[in-house]
Amino acid sequence: MPPITDIGPILKGQRALVTGASSGIGADVAKELAKAGAAVAVNYAGNPAGAEAVVAEITARGGTAFSIRADVSQEADVKAMFAKVVETFGTLDILVNNAGLQKDAPFHELSIEDWNRVIGVNLTGQFLCAREAVNEFLRRGPQPELSAALGKIICISSVHDVIPWAGHANYAASKGGVMMLMKTMAQELAGKKIRVNSVSPGAIRTPINRAAWETPEAEAELLKLIPYYRVGDPPDIGRAVVWLASDAADYVTGTTLYVDGGMTLYPEFREGG
Ligand code: BGC
Repeated sequence: MPPITDIGPILKGQRALVTGASSGIGADVAKELAKAGAAVAVNYAGNPAGAEAVVAEITARGGTAFSIRADVSQEADVKAMFAKVVETFGTLDILVNNAGLQKDAPFHELSIEDWNRVIGVNLTGQFLCAREAVNEFLRRGPQPELSAALGKIICISSVHDVIPWAGHANYAASKGGVMMLMKTMAQELAGKKIRVNSVSPGAIRTPINRAAWETPEAEAELLKLIPYYRVGDPPDIGRAVVWLASDAADYVTGTTLYVDGGMTLYPEFREGG
């Protein structure tokens, strides 16, 4: 893990919601946004203790945060969550659509339940949250003193929005869907000054892929797929999100920022082809 560079309070006064922020990438996205000066709503579905720990860390550093439960695949949960965020913070400036999960199976054994659950959280969840966020941005109107954009949405996707992944058809399909959802929203909403972008992480050291890095043997196999020869850490993603959410990225919309140590560079072609 390289030393963390303090980007400075470039999100001061802004209010963010991070879904799936009780662990993994989402937890560090919440912490990095708070370091950049944003007040953060820390969403969780089933791990209140994890969310509380993130809130405690942010508030101990003088930041503002609270935790809020919602299953993002459920419309009523999402609507209630946004109502609470707006009641608490007054409005919302930044949505980070991060909640996601894997339910892996060989294609011919993939159950409809596991297909629906992964699409429900990873894709439908992003739609439901983005729709509420856009409605709040439009209701609230511009605040040029805080940001040039009316609002910012960052979709956490995956390298598997372009890399097919055997044994993970539901997951790869959900992330491919996130890419076109993101691009279509970006195209449709740019005229309203809402920016929509994706961050697509490669292999980041989190619970979702523990088996891929927890033993030296597994990590050595994984590193063959990463030209930069380092498994990523959650703050690598958090810092990319902070930049995309800030006015430093004001001319950036509809794009995907791969934060993957080069995983999408076809590393197997280094010695082949
Ligand atoms: C998956 C991880 C995987 C990584 C790279 C992510 O989207 O959730 O399990 O290690 O992609 O393959």
